[in-house]
Amino acid sequence: MRSTEGAATHGLFITLEGPDGSGKTVQAARVADVLRASGHEVVLAREPGGTRLGERIREILMSPVGPPIDPLADALLFSAARAEHVAEVIRPALAAGRIVVCARYADSTLAYQGYGAGQPIETLRRLQEIATGGLWPDRTILLDLPAEVGLRRKAPDDHTRFEVGFDLDYHRRVRAGFLELAAAEPERWTVVDADRDPAAVWLDVLATALEALNEPDPVSVRMER
Ligand code: TYD
Repeated sequence: MRSTEGAATHGLFITLEGPDGSGKTVQAARVADVLRASGHEVVLAREPGGTRLGERIREILMSPVGPPIDPLADALLFSAARAEHVAEVIRPALAAGRIVVCARYADSTLAYQGYGAGQPIETLRRLQEIATGGLWPDRTILLDLPAEVGLRRKAPDDHTRFEVGFDLDYHRRVRAGFLELAAAEPERWTVVDADRDPAAVWLDVLATALEALNEPDPVSVRMER
């Protein structure tokens, strides 16, 4: 565990990242189900949210109505929700030896408020160090797909401020940003092509989660026989 301060952490921290409509929430829930079925204690989470304060901040941040939010204020609000989430949920779960599976985390702030909205990446990185106390995931799965494909997948009544208020170029920069983050830290990230049918995506996600846990992947074990 790469925590640099606070209580020692013993569990495993897996995050799923990707553009809007890439299927993170569904895949995160499936990972949690499978790991629970094999006897692990799993906390399933998503950001922004996961605490009372975080859910209130989420309402402000996601609302498709209202005036635009300054990108730095945006980053600070996402990070405030994250600080509470880490302190109240993620760190205690890891300290108790649990697996935390979280849809979106600090990398989303780098991708959206940084690569997307143009805030300096190094400033945002320092902000993430402060908000999380230096807690970065053990493994991050990037569900990668073209921005327009992801946006087409989301139903209009599921649209947040990000689908309503930001253009396609913004979402393309977000996608490119995620790919750049993944390329810079290949030991943490696994890039999965999410522009395929969900069953194929799921096999890669499952294999990655099991590898992070050091458990054999039933599919590749069967193929080796
Ligand atoms: P959500 O409905 O959870 O979208 P998805 O199901 O695609 O993950 O909305 C999260 C939105 O918030 C998404 O558009 C990305 C954005 N976001 C940021 O801009 N910065 C962040 O730090 C986080 C966590 C999310």
